[in-house]
Amino acid sequence: MPSLNAPHSAPRSERRVIIAPSLLAADFARLGAEVAAIEAAGADWLHLDVMDGHFVPNISFGPAIIKALRKHCALPFDVHLMIAPADPYLAAFAEAGADHISVHPESSPHLHRTLQTIRALGKKAGVVLNPATPIESIAWALDLIDIIMVMTVNPGFGGQTFIESQLAKIAALRALIDSTGRPIALQVDGGVTLETAPRVLAAGADTLVAGTAIFAAPDYAAAIAGLRRAEAGLLEIPA
Ligand code: DX5
Ligand code: ZN
Repeated sequence: MPSLNAPHSAPRSERRVIIAPSLLAADFARLGAEVAAIEAAGADWLHLDVMDGHFVPNISFGPAIIKALRKHCALPFDVHLMIAPADPYLAAFAEAGADHISVHPESSPHLHRTLQTIRALGKKAGVVLNPATPIESIAWALDLIDIIMVMTVNPGFGGQTFIESQLAKIAALRALIDSTGRPIALQVDGGVTLETAPRVLAAGADTLVAGTAIFAAPDYAAAIAGLRRAEAGLLEIPA
């Protein structure tokens, strides 16, 4: 299993981009087979989008599905909670098999306490920034954060168009994370494709979530390998 994130200061050749396929784009009638296939295809984490039809305008799945999938997949389960309130359900997701639990600051009144709770459950704690959510919302909780995820679409649906303005936010977060000296993963979610991935990685991200770009591809392994190589592809572009 790869470490949560390779230090971004390491030479590019020594860094490994983490690929987290989003199950939202999988065939929901064959979820067990899909997660097994995505693990065999070389994914690093499995990204699980939990939606409640209240915090976001869509409903997906909850802890029972995640628990059922746990025995079909050994990858770290990267759970993205798009539910409000999130606090009453944190223990249920931990017990279902989540390894990382990421929350939106807007979903619960006390982000610091929510992160403490996730840590106390023995899980990696993540914070997800919507396109309009400022970096300042997490500035005083960095010591509790293992993953910062930048939404490059508005949350709720797969297959949306990448929001370009977030590249500057990713770059600013890269600088902030480096200033802490802590191994915080910088993850990007939404509209990640072979076209957008190189720019996301160049801005400083180290972890890519991709739903459509992987599950709609005919060959999962090729799609994952292509995204992983996106940074090298960028370097080949003449200046
Ligand atoms: C959206 C979810 C994403 C989604 C990404 O709310 O958080 O993880 O599955 O889908 P794509 O990669 O298709 O934009
Ligand atoms: Zn997500």
